[in-house]
Amino acid sequence: MVFDVLVTRVMVDEAMRALDGRCEVDVYTGPPEAIPYDEFRARAQGKHGLLTMVSDRVDAGLLDAAGPQLRIVANHAVGYDNIDVDECTRRGVMVANTPDVLTEATADLAWALILAAVRRIGEGDRFLRAKTPWIWGPRMMLGYDLYGKTLGIVGYGRIGQATARRAAGFGMRVIHHSRSGGHSFDDLVAQADVISVHAPLTPETRHLFSTKVFQRMKPTAVLVNTARGPLVDEVALAEALRGGEIFAAGLDVFEREPLVEAALLALENVTIVPHLGSATVETRTAMGLFAVENLLSGLHGERPRGLVNDVNEAR
Ligand code: DGY
Repeated sequence: MVFDVLVTRVMVDEAMRALDGRCEVDVYTGPPEAIPYDEFRARAQGKHGLLTMVSDRVDAGLLDAAGPQLRIVANHAVGYDNIDVDECTRRGVMVANTPDVLTEATADLAWALILAAVRRIGEGDRFLRAKTPWIWGPRMMLGYDLYGKTLGIVGYGRIGQATARRAAGFGMRVIHHSRSGGHSFDDLVAQADVISVHAPLTPETRHLFSTKVFQRMKPTAVLVNTARGPLVDEVALAEALRGGEIFAAGLDVFEREPLVEAALLALENVTIVPHLGSATVETRTAMGLFAVENLLSGLHGERPRGLVNDVNEAR
């Protein structure tokens, strides 16, 4: 049987090549860069497999348009909050993700943002590029030491733990909060000098960081989010940063991605990067190959290694 699949974004070459001769591939190449929802619906029609990105919404409407022959949605990401998993399960559609392979790269980026925020790297870079006159001075652009401070990890899964491991090199104490234990959230927020967010986006974690949380953080604290944008109320964050309620922030993800809250763009004490957590050659290659492996397994009625729902048999 020939399987028809839709790939919603061009992956790295090695991952694209892994599909060669394995199925009939329709690749969305834009423009615009991400496939618009209506076109996604149209091109999903009749497909047996979808290889999707975090920016693609897979909901009941999309599944209706795809049709009952759809076997698998293979997400090119560890997070899968873009997919209505319950709806897929109800319809017998497998959903798979790409865990593990991006853990270390994402933890590295969390630390890049921690260092950038706490030592004002972005601000210093902009300052020099603006050709601002300057001379070394004892009060100039002061940040804070990391040594001896407390790192609070919110969400203690693979990436949270990898971020925690790196803290030893900086001489930091680590505390964590997760569904399965650790410190209470309130305690962590009050104690941490740096908070790094690694929790999944769920109805319970949406706007976990809001005005009342920022008010309880130390005024010298830094917040870094490499998980999902909506965990942080961006308007409240901008107010907290502007009002000195917290010292700085580093964001890889945004509430209304790809939009960035205008109030944040106007601030010097927030470092922002465009969802680059897993953006290394090695990691994106591993993610692409993992997503293709999941897709092919699902098409052939095997259990994908990254299966996240209870549909484990081909129909
Ligand atoms: C993921 O894998 O969930 C990332 O956010 C995409 O790089």
